[in-house]
Amino acid sequence: MPLLHVDDVVVRFGGVTAVNHANFEVEPGTVTGLIGPNGAGKTTCFNVITGLQAPTEGRVWLDDRDITRMPVHRRARHGIGRTFQRLEAFGSLTVEDNVRTALDIHDGIKGLLRAVDGSADLEIAALLERVGIAEYARDRADSIPTGVARLLELARALACDPRLLLLDEPSSGLDEAETEAFGSLLLELAQEGRTILMVEHDMDLVMNVCDTIHVLDFGSIIAQGTPAEVRADAAVQKAYLGYAPAPSSTEASV
Ligand SMILES: Nc1ncnc2c1ncn2[C@@H]1O[C@H](COP(=O)(O)OP(=O)(O)O)[C@@H](O)[C@H]1O
Ligand SMILES: [Mg+2]
Repeated sequence: MPLLHVDDVVVRFGGVTAVNHANFEVEPGTVTGLIGPNGAGKTTCFNVITGLQAPTEGRVWLDDRDITRMPVHRRARHGIGRTFQRLEAFGSLTVEDNVRTALDIHDGIKGLLRAVDGSADLEIAALLERVGIAEYARDRADSIPTGVARLLELARALACDPRLLLLDEPSSGLDEAETEAFGSLLLELAQEGRTILMVEHDMDLVMNVCDTIHVLDFGSIIAQGTPAEVRADAAVQKAYLGYAPAPSSTEASV
C-alpha cells in the first residue's frame, strides 16, 4: 500500500488551475521526485498534502486514511514534515533554537524533562551535525546563507521525526559538494525507513537519488517511472525544453 496517495486533486485560484486532476502515489521508504517546469503546480501539491491549501476537488490519503480535511498540526502529528521553497525559518531565533522549537512541540510534556536533563541539547546538536551545519548553531537564522537555511529547515523537520518528508527545492543555494553530501543524506534517511518526496530542479540530484519520479506539467502528471524511464519519455523532454537527456547531463535549465 502506498504511504501517500494524491487522488485526483484539483486546485483553482480564481481563473488559474494550478493543479489539474493530479494523481500520484508515494511508496514507503522511497525517495520520490516531483518534477516539472516552473508554475507546474508542484508547491501547490505540497501545500495540499500538508494542509496549507484546501483542494478544490479530490482527496489526499495517508496510509488508508483520508486526510483531506485534517488540520496542518494533526498531519504533522501523523508524521508529515516539510521544508519550504520560500524559506520559513524563524529569523530572529538562532539556528539551534529553530530546531529546539520543533523538538519542544514534538516532545510535548516529555520535552519538559528533556530540557532539564540536557538530552534535548544533545539531540539538537546531533541534528545540526547530521545535516552539516553545526558551525552555525549560535547564528541568527536571518544571518545565514540560503543553502544553510535550507539545511536548517531540514534539521527542524527531522526534529519532528517525520515518516513522510516533503522537500521543496532543497538543493538551491548548495554548491556541488554540498549537493552531493545532501544526496547521500537523503539516501541514508530513506534507508532508515523514512519516505521522501522531493521537488527539485537539479536533474543530476534527482536522477541519482530518486527511486521513482512523477512529472507534473500544467497541473497534471504527464509521466511517471524510474529515472531512466522518465529521462527517455518524449512528453517529458517536450515539457523540459532545453533539458538534454544525455547520461552526463548537468543541471536542467527549467
Ligand atoms: N496562492 C495563489 N494564488 C493564486 N495563484 C497561485 C497561488 N499559488 C500558486 N499560484 C499559481 O498556481 C500555479 C502553480 O504554482 P506553483 O504550485 O507555485 O508551481 P511550481 O511550484 O511548480 O513552480 C502558478 O501559475 C502560480 O502562479
Ligand atoms: Mg514551487
